[in-house]
Amino acid sequence: MEQYSEFAFVYDELMDEVDYDGWVDYLEQLIANEGVKVQNILELACGTGNITIPLAKKGYDIAGIDISDEMLGVAREKSEEDGIELVLLEQDITELDFDVENLDCVLCACDGFNYITEDRDLEKIFIKAYALLKDGGMFIFDISSHYKLSEVLGDNTYGENREDVTYMWQNFYCEEDETVEMELVFFVKEEDGSYTKFEEFHRQRAYKEGEVADMLANAGFEAVKLFGDFGFEAPSEDAERIFFVCKK
Ligand SMILES: C[S@@+](CC[C@H](N)C(=O)[O-])C[C@H]1O[C@@H](n2cnc3c(N)ncnc32)[C@H](O)[C@@H]1O
Repeated sequence: MEQYSEFAFVYDELMDEVDYDGWVDYLEQLIANEGVKVQNILELACGTGNITIPLAKKGYDIAGIDISDEMLGVAREKSEEDGIELVLLEQDITELDFDVENLDCVLCACDGFNYITEDRDLEKIFIKAYALLKDGGMFIFDISSHYKLSEVLGDNTYGENREDVTYMWQNFYCEEDETVEMELVFFVKEEDGSYTKFEEFHRQRAYKEGEVADMLANAGFEAVKLFGDFGFEAPSEDAERIFFVCKK
């Protein structure tokens, strides 16, 4: 039932419609727009390395941290296949223990911070990111918006019947603590044609943009810009992904 355990082995397949190359280009554009020179990057909640590996291929020195041993295992396998050396650490980012300071950039992509459901934990991460960055360094992350989690994913159920994996994904939105509880059931096809079933339970927090901006200010980030849905404009009310671009 733990999150991102067996799911790790089908994660990339189920994310095959996400344009990670485009995502990486967008991140580079956000950095370029700030005129900051970035060489070393720490990526939080790096998962299977879908952002980490392309950035490493582009020549950045990048380290990735994730709480899931299985997700990191997939990242390790992929980077070995590509002949890329990555520093990958298994850690809970709410207890971040990383001792290389003066970093050019700290990143977190694709909902990593929605999994941090308590304000105090998210603020703790922001404080640590601020401490790890050099002066002028960039902290860039995105979250699924409050609108997306409360209204789009909300209490909905999704499912898909694919060639190798079938899943059902049921959501329950709790207004009181502004979280979505996600019950996921997977059936993965084995070589002999049988199916293996497994279940996971995920919980994501719906943060309002203003709440996050306040936490960033408390952590010391004075210059913070918000963009919506891979654009370069302030997020619209129905933006589903909010990018925060912060400069130390
Ligand atoms: C939706 S995945 C995103 C993975 C990757 N960033 C990507 O773009 O594909 C969310 C990731 O957050 C990680 N995660 C959730 N809570 C975490 C925590 N407390 N510490 C570290 N990683 C965490 C999960 O293990 C998972 O790999």
